[in-house]
Amino acid sequence: MNQPVMGGVAALLNVPAYIKQQKLINWVAEIAALTKPERIYWCDGSQEEYDRLCAEMVAAGTMKKLNQALRPNSYLACSDPTDVARVEDRTFICSNTKEEAGPTNNWMAPPDMRATLSPLFDGCMAGRTMYVVPFSMGPLGSPIAHIGVELSDSPYVAVNMRIMTRMGKAVYDVLGSDGEFVPCVHTVGAPLAAGQKDVAWPCNATKYIVHFPETREIWSYGSGYGGNALLGKKCFALRIASNMGHQAAQVDGKGWLAEHMLILGVESPEGKKHYVAAAFPSACGKTNFAMLIPPATFDGWKVTTIGDDIAWIKPGADGRLYAINPEAGYFGVAPGTNTRTNSNCMASLGSDTIFTNVALTDEGDIWWEGLTKEAPSHLIDWQGKDWTPASGTKAAHPNARFTVAATQNPVIDPAWDDPAGVPISAFIFGGRRSTTVPLVTEARNWVEGVYMAATMGSETTAAAAGQMGVVRRDPFAMLPFMGYNMSDYFQHWLNMGEKLGQLNAAALPKIYCVNWFRTDDQGHFVWPGFGDNMRVLKWMLERIEGTAGGIENIFGTTPRFGDLKWDGIPFSPEEFETITSIDKDAWREELKLHDELFAKLAYHLPTELTAVKAELEKRLAR
Ligand code: OXD
Ligand code: MN
Repeated sequence: MNQPVMGGVAALLNVPAYIKQQKLINWVAEIAALTKPERIYWCDGSQEEYDRLCAEMVAAGTMKKLNQALRPNSYLACSDPTDVARVEDRTFICSNTKEEAGPTNNWMAPPDMRATLSPLFDGCMAGRTMYVVPFSMGPLGSPIAHIGVELSDSPYVAVNMRIMTRMGKAVYDVLGSDGEFVPCVHTVGAPLAAGQKDVAWPCNATKYIVHFPETREIWSYGSGYGGNALLGKKCFALRIASNMGHQAAQVDGKGWLAEHMLILGVESPEGKKHYVAAAFPSACGKTNFAMLIPPATFDGWKVTTIGDDIAWIKPGADGRLYAINPEAGYFGVAPGTNTRTNSNCMASLGSDTIFTNVALTDEGDIWWEGLTKEAPSHLIDWQGKDWTPASGTKAAHPNARFTVAATQNPVIDPAWDDPAGVPISAFIFGGRRSTTVPLVTEARNWVEGVYMAATMGSETTAAAAGQMGVVRRDPFAMLPFMGYNMSDYFQHWLNMGEKLGQLNAAALPKIYCVNWFRTDDQGHFVWPGFGDNMRVLKWMLERIEGTAGGIENIFGTTPRFGDLKWDGIPFSPEEFETITSIDKDAWREELKLHDELFAKLAYHLPTELTAVKAELEKRLAR
């Protein structure tokens, strides 16, 4: 059955009998011949394998085992200080033409990129093990799910992928002898010469995170961190999948959507339940929102989590949109997380968690800025140095992370693993803006909602390398994750709305724009956020049900002070005004920035969006 493969590699391959796909085996052999690992290891996804790889990493100094009594089965990994975040400037979409990648992406012609990568990957795994990591994005066998296989020389990647995806043997059953998979090749780019001693976190100053959308391939070089290395997440589930969803429209007339969105369920005391999907830029509290605990005065209201970062959304035969979380775990930002901001998250992290770049306490537990009011008197910081509150540095890196299985979330939604997905009643788009954008606005229609999402701006955060706090346009919170031309993506959304409207206009999800981050004159956040976001969510749910009031303004419909429930919080109408007022001058400036965005995206920019802008300008002039 399994045909002979390339000479020297054949001896390394040792393919498990349960793998039935020759195309996959040939590809593994081909990549092994290129990258020249010392060993090939086929991951089966078992607990025994996970424990063994973690123990090996502890022995190698890559991870530390945390205090078993305080944080059972948990580990701390600390990365090289030069490898701490996604590298957007080293991320490429290598479609056949530059226009297909669009002006928001780095592009190189595929033959040129292949010529660049070839010498880098040649022998890049020397002295290391190549892990073969089979994974499903989405419930195994779901009609919305897809399969990938990552070849990586990082055991840290293998164990994180086991938490973040449905990883292991069962994937090969779904794949069968001729199923499709997305091939993902990852290397830390640090080959070992014979006898050379390894470092705790191997990586390379040269980095390439490359996507070939036409052939649906991912090649990642030089980084072992997060979205650069766990290729199921941003690379596959957003950049390649957004392409797949767009291309699918050419086949079935509708296609599907791969979005940077959390999905949550919200249920009223009367048992009315809706699912909403919400897009926010990185490190803007998506995990907190997805696990929201309603204020004590919201008796009987429940929020449950389907996912905290990515949604794959497909139209159903009934004209509704159905969403799955393609991931199986959370790779969340640790700093700022505590029992007040997200006690469900803290409960999830009680055991069986991998922490990366947080600080280590003297008791062998973890700490990060914001975990407790007072910092411990002594820590080992994320760079392995002694730290005290007087050090004047951050003990945890601002983009420090936890990796934890979704099943550890105490408020996981019962349908989170349902292969059919959950029906979406509303989309929420939220930027991080200290000024201008009001607390919440409901779009009057789908096209206006797409306009709001397309023109979203946000102040940048630590999830990506580079400058922080600068406002950048981040359409749909997808700027770093878009796998094709942004204007074609806007058109895809508009087409989707039109098609769904024809099928079942009443079920078309409502679209909201929110901003939790407006500040007062002193620069303090006015809106309490976290659990109090329930007040806004409740209003949305009631709008969907047709029972809540609101007032129409220039941009859409917003609640009046009296339309929100205020029990249990001393929030004044004046404070409400501070975060909901529309400053016409600021909006005139804002619309100039929309112009700049549209000028940049002029190629294929849908005319519907320029028409909405013209309407807004007219209203603003009144
Ligand atoms: C993430 C990100 O890690 O958006 O989710 O950067
Ligand atoms: Mn994200």
